[in-house]
Amino acid sequence: MDKNHFPNVWAAEDDRVDGLAKVTGKAKFSAEFRPEGLVHGVFVCSTIAKGAIKGMYLNEAKNAPGVIDIIYHLNAPEVPGFKPADRAANPNARDFAGLKVFYNNLVVSNGQPIALVVADTFERAVHAASLVKVDYIKETPQTDFDSNKFNDKLLKPRGEYVRKEKDAWQTAEVKLEEEYTTPIETHNPMEMHATIAHWEGDKLTVYDKSQGPKGVQGELARLFGLNQDNVKVITEYVGGAFGSALRSWPHVHAAVIASKKLNRPVKVTLNREQMFTMVGYRPQSWQKIGIGAGKDGKLVGITHHAVSNTSTYEDFSEGIVNVSQFLYECPNVNTSYNILPLDINTPTWMRGPGPGTGCFGLECALDELSYKLNIDPIELRLINHADVHPHSRLPWTTKFLKECYTPGKEKIGWHNRPTVPGTLKEDEMLVGYGMAVGVFGAGRSPATAKGVLNSEGKLLLQSAVSDMGPGTSTAMVKIGSEQMNLEESKVRFELGDTDFPTGPTQGGSGSATAVGSAVIAVCDGLKQGLKEMAIENIAAFKNLKPEDIKYENGKLVSATDASVFIHFTDLLKQSGKPELQVSKSSAGFAQRDKYVTNSFAVHFVKLQANPVTGVIKLKHIVSAADAGKIISEKTARSQMVGGAVGGIGMAMTEETLMDHRFGRYINSNFVDYHVPVHADAPPMDILFTNEPDYIISPTGAKGIGEIALVGVAPAILNAVYNATGKRVRDLPVTPDKVI
Ligand code: MOS
Repeated sequence: MDKNHFPNVWAAEDDRVDGLAKVTGKAKFSAEFRPEGLVHGVFVCSTIAKGAIKGMYLNEAKNAPGVIDIIYHLNAPEVPGFKPADRAANPNARDFAGLKVFYNNLVVSNGQPIALVVADTFERAVHAASLVKVDYIKETPQTDFDSNKFNDKLLKPRGEYVRKEKDAWQTAEVKLEEEYTTPIETHNPMEMHATIAHWEGDKLTVYDKSQGPKGVQGELARLFGLNQDNVKVITEYVGGAFGSALRSWPHVHAAVIASKKLNRPVKVTLNREQMFTMVGYRPQSWQKIGIGAGKDGKLVGITHHAVSNTSTYEDFSEGIVNVSQFLYECPNVNTSYNILPLDINTPTWMRGPGPGTGCFGLECALDELSYKLNIDPIELRLINHADVHPHSRLPWTTKFLKECYTPGKEKIGWHNRPTVPGTLKEDEMLVGYGMAVGVFGAGRSPATAKGVLNSEGKLLLQSAVSDMGPGTSTAMVKIGSEQMNLEESKVRFELGDTDFPTGPTQGGSGSATAVGSAVIAVCDGLKQGLKEMAIENIAAFKNLKPEDIKYENGKLVSATDASVFIHFTDLLKQSGKPELQVSKSSAGFAQRDKYVTNSFAVHFVKLQANPVTGVIKLKHIVSAADAGKIISEKTARSQMVGGAVGGIGMAMTEETLMDHRFGRYINSNFVDYHVPVHADAPPMDILFTNEPDYIISPTGAKGIGEIALVGVAPAILNAVYNATGKRVRDLPVTPDKVI
């Protein structure tokens, strides 16, 4: 493959447009707004996992300095949307599915918010909250996933899939069946969730950490019975989220409830411990994979079963087993998936949801199979490469997965990999190499954007999306600048305000294609508007049609006579218009009957294992990705690096632990819950095929966010086996499991 397909993105100079604001503290995150009269709400949380509140003793807290009110189920204003839906009036009406904060006295998980103490300062609210005493009617909680994962009385089936023969792997010449397990993993973005709510009459303004301001606006309108236009949600900056801000959680509703009751702005900020009990997590999972191939390496069958946990009040599921249905060409595949309700808070999507867990199972199983077959794991994947979707037989819009293997393999030094595990040493350390594939859905959802082009030559773009960190503004500025041939410094992208045109919730690696397509539509609209303006206002263009005019480097040029031209800034001035404004929508991807759409990545790992202590030291990670066209090299690389670090956490350090006697998390803080730090992250090389996919969208992009993480954990586990000969199938791979 041409080397140019893999630019060395270290060298890129394309800084983030919001980088300066972020590093200087100028960027305002949701908790930092100070509306006049702001007061502070701090939660009192349940200390039992199941039961009911018998009584709350509030006097001491009420009399504490600065306390304004204590809101709980007996005095909270009614939330219309919490009431059971009126299906007589609307047959399609659905009940609110999440935790109904302050709705009744039931306790459904430990750490559930049961009261909000509001005081004039945050510190006084924290103190008063500590004075609230609660009497409970206790019931025995069931929080133990491991002992209930086959409990037919509890399990809720999420569907079965059968392609040709069920369990055909058993008939193969070479086969294995193994179980793979993952713990609860908590998002833990740097910025903790925070909401400021402010009612003014029937108008509600909310500053909220959110991946989708429009989604929050819609939900709050529904819950509180408001016209959507009367709800304004502002999310200027987000300090990471990874899925925890894809929906709005009890603290958002509590801030709105409190502000309504007190008729003044109320801020609710979660602390780190509350981040574990209120804003979701990657569910615990069990997978069992049976896989078999002929001696030639051709897959005969895959059987993939999975169970993951949910809460008792909400069914959360994710596509864990789906990867086995399409990642490789395999004639016989069957999968099943169940969810297990437990007395803990509801899980949610976390970076690479579904395939993140599923590829851990499948890509480890395939690695195990490669040793049994004595075929190189990369070769085994090439033997079973799927050129078309193995079920639908539809083609992918683009698929450059094959093109990721060779450059990645060279960069990591795959030729040094020992074919017999545990046989290579470097500085007294065992050395191993591993690889795994990551995949995630790609697509394009509908989006709307607005563009304002002015006579000073500047372009302002707006859409009501948010940017949790991937660099959406930077990418949109690049697209706007490229489309209008303007310097990047002349283009600005504004987001995070529901007054802007509707954009999608940021998730599933979909922002660049969706919002980018809307920005392209806006730029096309601006060019069209300029042409019409030239015809109307400028004598030399009078007899031309729009299609007779070209837009070139900011100039409107007659297609037949290049000497007839005008720069758009002069056009705007001469037309007496300081600016031209255009709003455009781009539709969602509508060719699902013709194509399959995915981004792909192949992750390579070199690591050292201490044969005495079992400590693993990562030495090098190479991620090669087919993410379509790379719009902004630096932010794309950063996303890949960030995803790999997330994958390191999943593989080696992160594990949310619970004491099942109380159904309470025991490591809900940064001392005991280990997110990877710089010392855990090795040097990384990020390679992109950079092959545009113009079928999915005119941006050419396919999405990066999820494939950056999906596949990293199995690549690490596969390298641990290669180094030590010890196959660990239970995440995270802590030293005790290696020795
Ligand atoms: Mo991501 S789990 O799509 O926020």
